[in-house]
Amino acid sequence: MPNGVSLSLTGPMAGAGTNPAAGMALVGCGSALPAVSISNEELSRRVDTSDAWIRSRTGIGARRVCGPDEPLTVLASQAARRALEHAGWRPEDVDLILLATSSPDDLFGTAPRVQAALGATGAVAFDLTAACSGFLFALVTAGQYIASGAVRRAVVIGADQLSRWVDWDDRRTCVLFGDGAAAVAVEACAAADTGLLGFRMRSDGSRNACLTLAQTDSRAALLGELSTQKGGFAPIHMNGQEVYKFAVREVPAILQELLESTGVAPAQLDWLLLHQANQRILDAVAERFAVPAERVLSNLAHYGNTSAATIPLMLDEAVRDGRVLSGHLLASSGFGAGLSWGAALLRWQGPPG
Ligand code: COA
Repeated sequence: MPNGVSLSLTGPMAGAGTNPAAGMALVGCGSALPAVSISNEELSRRVDTSDAWIRSRTGIGARRVCGPDEPLTVLASQAARRALEHAGWRPEDVDLILLATSSPDDLFGTAPRVQAALGATGAVAFDLTAACSGFLFALVTAGQYIASGAVRRAVVIGADQLSRWVDWDDRRTCVLFGDGAAAVAVEACAAADTGLLGFRMRSDGSRNACLTLAQTDSRAALLGELSTQKGGFAPIHMNGQEVYKFAVREVPAILQELLESTGVAPAQLDWLLLHQANQRILDAVAERFAVPAERVLSNLAHYGNTSAATIPLMLDEAVRDGRVLSGHLLASSGFGAGLSWGAALLRWQGPPG
């Protein structure tokens, strides 16, 4: 095992023996994207890159970016509203709003702004930060609140606006990321019907430097000789090769553990629903489990890496276009900065798009 913290659970949700409503059903989804799309070709007018280079190394063809008047709150709220509508819920029905993001409008928390925009007056709302693993970690977290009986209905949002934090003159990183938001509505159900059939989560902070969006080392004079740190973050910094090696090693390993512990064979999976970072990573994971390409969900050609949003964005697209159907089994994995990574075995139970 890597030098990190491990947490795992398999089978029905914890507490299933004492709480009959200990399962979590995935019953609605929604997404929202900024209107502006920038193609590789367009980006090559800003930095020294090319469509051929980006496509061959990543599979990315374009990415969406928010304009100056499009805060994360707006995108995240639109995505959540669509998930509520899809589930057939009213905003007052929601007990918990979890917003997975690394690019909040407010470092004190953006989820309460989303709560207000939705009119979800009965919901407690808070942010959760785990970079590109954020949605998966938030979904599992919602599952624990539901399993304990504390929460009946939750909206889990993955939303990021990394265009704010990318150095648009750094061709090694700016070509990879895009903005977007998506959400899943989850509710308590019988343990036997749970849509969260098992999960694994890992962190390894000893490799944190591989991918950071870190506080800058700037100071502000306070009183005489006394100074304090001045708030501010440096643009995204990444060791691409190390992150690539991390992903192609750890994602298959954690998925393997998940499948073994839940007793599910790769052939039983309807879909692989992986964090959309790089097509080569998706292909490597699919090959490892002999999952045919047509059962690997991929939309990064259009949106790039939208960080916490990629997994629910992909799910929403595939539910809406009729690929993912009620009862389908999905193996999902999120991975990224932290370093953090995780996997979950999910069953979609929501209505069609
Ligand atoms: N356009 C053109 N050339 C580029 C480029 C770009 N956008 N970015 C880097 N290059 C150049 C480099 O400068 C280097 O040139 P040099 O050999 O003259 O120095 C060359 O391409 C190779 O760079 P390298 O970093 O070795 O490329 P790579 O094959 O490792 O591919 C990534 C780079 C970023 C695509 C790849 O490492 C990757 O996908 N890593 C994972 C990143 C990721 O998914 N991060 C998010 C995780 S959640």
